[in-house]
Amino acid sequence: MDRAHRRLRRRNVSTAADLMRDPQHDWHPVGASAALAAGATQAASLLGRELVLWRDAEGRCHAWDERCPHRGARLSLGRVDGANLVCRYHAWAFDGRSAACVQVPAQPDSPLPAAAARAYAVCEAYGLIWACIGRPQHTAPPPFPEYANEHLRKHVCGPYVLNASGPRIVENFVDMAHFGTVHDGILGSAAQLQVCRYDVGDFDVGDGSQGLIATRCMAWQPQPNSVAAQGSEVEYTYRIVRPFSAMLTKLPQQQSGFIEAIALFVQPLGEERSQVWLVLAVTDFAQTDEELSAFQDRIFEQDIGILENQLPKRLPLHPRAEVSVACDRMSLAYRDYLRRLDWRYGVLPASVAPDADTAS
Ligand code: FES
Repeated sequence: MDRAHRRLRRRNVSTAADLMRDPQHDWHPVGASAALAAGATQAASLLGRELVLWRDAEGRCHAWDERCPHRGARLSLGRVDGANLVCRYHAWAFDGRSAACVQVPAQPDSPLPAAAARAYAVCEAYGLIWACIGRPQHTAPPPFPEYANEHLRKHVCGPYVLNASGPRIVENFVDMAHFGTVHDGILGSAAQLQVCRYDVGDFDVGDGSQGLIATRCMAWQPQPNSVAAQGSEVEYTYRIVRPFSAMLTKLPQQQSGFIEAIALFVQPLGEERSQVWLVLAVTDFAQTDEELSAFQDRIFEQDIGILENQLPKRLPLHPRAEVSVACDRMSLAYRDYLRRLDWRYGVLPASVAPDADTAS
């Protein structure tokens, strides 16, 4: 057993697979970059843990445990002083680089206590702040290559807070059979509910991991986007790249050259409560940010009405837990993907028999 494995065992984590299936060890969005100005603090929540996000005077973002190590005051109530975060209660100052306490004003002439805030890995991508509260198993947040396309306009929608599990939300995002029922008159029509056959397979995410892709997903939509002048047949491609991250691209055939890519990133607040961010990369440069958000807000509000009312709230992974039909093949592939990871968060594991899942 090498040193790394011994260290993992000491932490009660036995293998790399254990790390991969624990959401603590992945990157998750925790806030919008634009909402955190230099010198500002902001409270956030991730996987049941409370965080403070703060940006120092030089623009570096930090994600720390919300609790001050002195007497537990919320650090998000504090203030930023240059490169330090100063607690509101007794004004202890913590250094942005080391998180160590560097000032105790009540005892200026005494040695500093061996105290430090708990700092987490943090980065910024796609207009969002990302944190990992465990041991990062990926070097970066999930790949969303469309964001780097300079010919596409970028916009962050949300966040949307809802009482639903992350896996239920991802599954809804790749579900084509609800367009005409939940989004009648916009993304589908109640008069035309049939879902055409589409293809599902594995794909190389590009960061050393495997994801899922659904291609040739065709849907007729009365209003494919907020600038569409007419209904159109739309070609969708869906990708699932991490357990809580999925993307779609839309090509409306009546809008020549129009491209819309949407990334859905779930911020798991708890196993049955989530915050969702939608990041757009689109050819639409005409509308205001408010207009772009309004369209997505309308669609997602309709989804929330379903997502908060699914039973059980956690996605059941037992193959016979729910009845599926052929057009559910992307959702079935997602469930299989989670089973292969032995994923445990926001799901009822495959070992839970269908008649036992009503407890959640
Ligand atoms: Fe933070 Fe005392 S609780 S300095």
